[in-house]
Amino acid sequence: MTQEKWTAVDKYITDLFVPPDPVLDVTIQSTSDAQMPLINVAPNQGKLLHILALTQGARNILEIGTLAGYSTIWLARALPADGKLITLEVEPKHATVARDNIERAGLIDKVSVRLGAALDTLPQLRNEGLAPFDLVFIDADKVNTAEYFEWALKLTRRGSLIITDNVVRKGAVIDENSTDANVQGVRRFNEKLAAEARVTATIIQTVGSKGYDGLAIALVTSDS
Ligand SMILES: C[S@@+](CC[C@H](N)C(=O)[O-])C[C@H]1O[C@@H](n2cnc3c(N)ncnc32)[C@H](O)[C@@H]1O
Repeated sequence: MTQEKWTAVDKYITDLFVPPDPVLDVTIQSTSDAQMPLINVAPNQGKLLHILALTQGARNILEIGTLAGYSTIWLARALPADGKLITLEVEPKHATVARDNIERAGLIDKVSVRLGAALDTLPQLRNEGLAPFDLVFIDADKVNTAEYFEWALKLTRRGSLIITDNVVRKGAVIDENSTDANVQGVRRFNEKLAAEARVTATIIQTVGSKGYDGLAIALVTSDS
């Protein structure tokens, strides 16, 4: 199996399940126009996030890692009329492009983009009484993923879902001697996730237009 085949099958799936959508298409276009990296989730993964948020009946969503707001829009579209989503982004340009896309999507009343390093903005969310979140999507820098998960646990409740992207890294995750800080960051997260008694969790390997990677899904099973 090759990247070419994975991309072709992703196109087949997307053609079937994700009809052309001007808002999402412009969001992707804006990412490349602004010379930002095209590291958003794939369309079928965006739809998976949307379905999971709907399944949760999520009214309050937290995203760590906004980029241009592509996954943000998928998640926010699952919110009820009075639902809210907060997304955390460290790069000012990304936050600006994302706000434009979120506004174009008609979601600006539900979504707020917080600028700053997530490890600085996460404590603010708790201090402002904005928790608990029904769903958290972790998709920022991989070095701090374990710390983001710790914060996600503080900011959720029993029954919340914590979803974390890019936890397999082309299979490099099994190399305990890897010198790649992202791989080591993800390994640290995966081990923490496995050892955490307050969640029941698993990891699914993924292939597609974005290559070979994996998604961790954790259900919070305890309030403390
Ligand atoms: C993989 S992209 C997010 C993709 C987005 N979730 C999507 O699928 O459309 C990761 C984003 O996290 C941001 N980021 C990296 N380090 C961060 C940090 N310490 N705090 C907040 N955001 C960070 C990056 O600037 C980038 O925009």
